[in-house]
Amino acid sequence: MKHHLKLLSLTLISVLFLTCGGSKTEFETSPTSGKTAVANNGMVVTAHPEATKVGMDILKQGGNAVDAMVGVHFALAVVYPSAGNLGGGGFMMYRKNDGELFSLDFREKAPGNAYEDMYLDENGDVIPGESLYGQKASGVPGSVDGMLKAHEKFGSLPLATLIEPSIKLAKKGFRITSKQARNYNYFKDDFIKNNRNPKKVTLIKEGQWEEGDLLVQKDLAETLERIKQNGRSGFYQGKTAELIVAEMNAGNGIITLEDLENYNSAWRTPITGNFRGYKVYSMAPSSSGGIALVQLLKLSEHFPLSEYGSKTAKTVHLMTEMERRVYADRAEHLGDSDFWDVPVKALLDDDYIAERVAQIDPSKATDSGEVRAMELDNIVEGEETTHYSIVDNMGNAISLTTTINSAYGSKVFVEGAGFLMNNEMDDFSAKPGVPNVYGLLGGAANSIQPEKRMLSAMTPTIIEKDGQLFMVVGTPGGSTIITSVYQTILNVIDHGMTMSEAVSEKRVHHQWKPDWISIEKGAFDDAVRAELEAMGHVIKERSSIGRVDAILVRPDGSLEGAADPRGDDWAMGIE
Ligand code: GLY
Repeated sequence: MKHHLKLLSLTLISVLFLTCGGSKTEFETSPTSGKTAVANNGMVVTAHPEATKVGMDILKQGGNAVDAMVGVHFALAVVYPSAGNLGGGGFMMYRKNDGELFSLDFREKAPGNAYEDMYLDENGDVIPGESLYGQKASGVPGSVDGMLKAHEKFGSLPLATLIEPSIKLAKKGFRITSKQARNYNYFKDDFIKNNRNPKKVTLIKEGQWEEGDLLVQKDLAETLERIKQNGRSGFYQGKTAELIVAEMNAGNGIITLEDLENYNSAWRTPITGNFRGYKVYSMAPSSSGGIALVQLLKLSEHFPLSEYGSKTAKTVHLMTEMERRVYADRAEHLGDSDFWDVPVKALLDDDYIAERVAQIDPSKATDSGEVRAMELDNIVEGEETTHYSIVDNMGNAISLTTTINSAYGSKVFVEGAGFLMNNEMDDFSAKPGVPNVYGLLGGAANSIQPEKRMLSAMTPTIIEKDGQLFMVVGTPGGSTIITSVYQTILNVIDHGMTMSEAVSEKRVHHQWKPDWISIEKGAFDDAVRAELEAMGHVIKERSSIGRVDAILVRPDGSLEGAADPRGDDWAMGIE
């Protein structure tokens, strides 16, 4: 009962927020549509209401979760260009209703001509911005290959049916939200600086963008049309591929036609772990997300966090101590498993986890300078991204996170093709000891090599309870992805929150180095802050952390979709 009352109050809050907030989108809130949605026969939660609607319409036409995923992915490339993409990559976790799990790694790859020192100058120093801006920042995109591969194996509706809504959105346009208007205006100078012909960049407007403006993307519509007509070769060969390579050659890019033709996404065995009786499935390398999340959850099992409370000094201190150790391991040991022997078993080993727990002082912060990654001798065996969650009426579930790395990727639009290229090369370690844009460190495990995938933090996750689907969860947020997913899970399982409460709850984050706790404004009160500081923690307030879009199966079997209030994210369900 308490559970339902809490949910109702949250629903009312979201109705008030959206109607009084002056949203000019046509998306009205109702019990099955909004920041919180509850329904029995399917649920879609994405970063944008238009993309959510595309997924929902596909489910209503009888499509399954994978069909909806493909539709949503292409729709996000149109209506959410800061992260939705054709020019990026990502990870899919798929749980079939019979309990079988599949995960697909469609992360970008380093081009064939990439090399370890490619972002260093003659003195061996990292050239500022070169892995972030411009043509040279891009890896070979994987999204289109990933979507088509998943559709070929699991899709039920024709590809054309799934892409057509996105073509329409690109050709006829859609009304942008106020957040998007602000965002496009903010990045205008970056778009101008990084594109040879700004007049052709659809996100650049003479004057200022305003909420409700129509965004039409004709070149993008044609690219989507080529994919619809020719499948994989509509992107990796022919006109689109030639336009990508021409764009590379117009600057200092190194992606070739051969790189595009050779790109292949890869099926991976998911990382699995148990947490307080729940079974957790998450992404294997080339993402660090699954290993780091399961390490965090296994560490957490050693502490009665539910008894300590959600944002108490004791809980935040323990989470921080766990996080600094997990991120130290990440920096040293994680990289693309096709190129680097990732010690998965050792990192998740119960004795190793217990060793880490024993290093934690319950009342004093550890100096990150003193925290080392796991010693290899002990091994037994050789911010901008977007996430969406989908469950169909048969109980198939998709958890998918995709990215072009930072907002609007390299800021380079492929001229004539209308889409943005990623700046994922920055996720490699350009030089040991030099942090990337998220402050993350790395070494040999994540060094640049031709055709290697750069290490990711994306953590699309699916959780089971008693062998049944329980939660579908994930988020954008660069290095904070892992800790945001971790906290969302704790919020539900340890702290008894509804899905919407768990998603809305303020977040905190620590990543070993830099050695401070990042917090969202209002994450905890002054007394908690003082207690943490007395233990030796440094605390820094920052802008919002993550945009979690998640679905929970409630005890009565209904689905609670939760769209993060920090963005335009939207949940919709089928009654
Ligand atoms: N580009 C962010 C990540 O993959 O973690």
